[in-house]
Amino acid sequence: MSVHGQAKKVTTHTLQEMKRAGEKITMLTAYDYSLAKLVDRGGVDVILVGDSASNVMAGRDTTVPMSLDHMIYHAQCVERAVDRALIVVDMPFGTYQGNSAIALESAIRIMKESSGHAVKLEGGSEIVGSIERILTAGIPVMGHLGLTPQSIYKFGTYTVRAKENDEAEKLISDAKILEEAGCFAIVLEKIPAHLAKQVSESISIPTIGIGAGAECDGQVLVLHDMLGITTDFSPRFLRRYLDLETQITNAVQQYCSDVRSKDFPNDEESY
Ligand code: KIV
Repeated sequence: MSVHGQAKKVTTHTLQEMKRAGEKITMLTAYDYSLAKLVDRGGVDVILVGDSASNVMAGRDTTVPMSLDHMIYHAQCVERAVDRALIVVDMPFGTYQGNSAIALESAIRIMKESSGHAVKLEGGSEIVGSIERILTAGIPVMGHLGLTPQSIYKFGTYTVRAKENDEAEKLISDAKILEEAGCFAIVLEKIPAHLAKQVSESISIPTIGIGAGAECDGQVLVLHDMLGITTDFSPRFLRRYLDLETQITNAVQQYCSDVRSKDFPNDEESY
């Protein structure tokens, strides 16, 4: 807390200081005002407006269809709710690959229209030109290596990445490239824990793991997965903290039953 009683805002520098001090960084996704408010109140350091909104909010199979307008809409909703956390917004597929001028334009739209604090891009050496150009505008960039869901049609599966030497070596080299380019942190998704440890020890910027073991500098989960809303998705790395699927379904059933039996509303609930 600051002297004025307001929560001290988390910045990209805070995260780097946390790594230096050996303090773990917490990150969760959010896509809407109401849940973002609760996540921020819960004390999470970073809120990711992830393109996983495509799966959990829109019911799509992949993140590929997400547009810049979709991401900006979700980020605007989140930004209105958040007092403390750093807000990172995913750049959607097709808005930064292969053309650094378009990447910069897309990142500027996100920052201006949503008031998010940073952007996240998937990939290593292939997209470093875009990352460098975005950074020239003073926009902080988070990297994302390992399983990069926007490339699902290249991988063909959501299985663990970088188990073989070639891919592991490329990942280590990509992490260094992203650090040198100026990224402030890197998400490591679904890679062996020993590799994530090696990467985390070999770079000075924080790593945030999802399915990448305990030695990353921080952890991230998709909010709807850890709250038990999306129960058809059960990877080994996921820890569920609530069973909201059951609780919400039970509440809806109880409401229907109360209305049908004329129990709701009662006199106290009427004017
Ligand atoms: O879109 C997302 O939610 C993500 C996390 C899985 C890191 O990129």
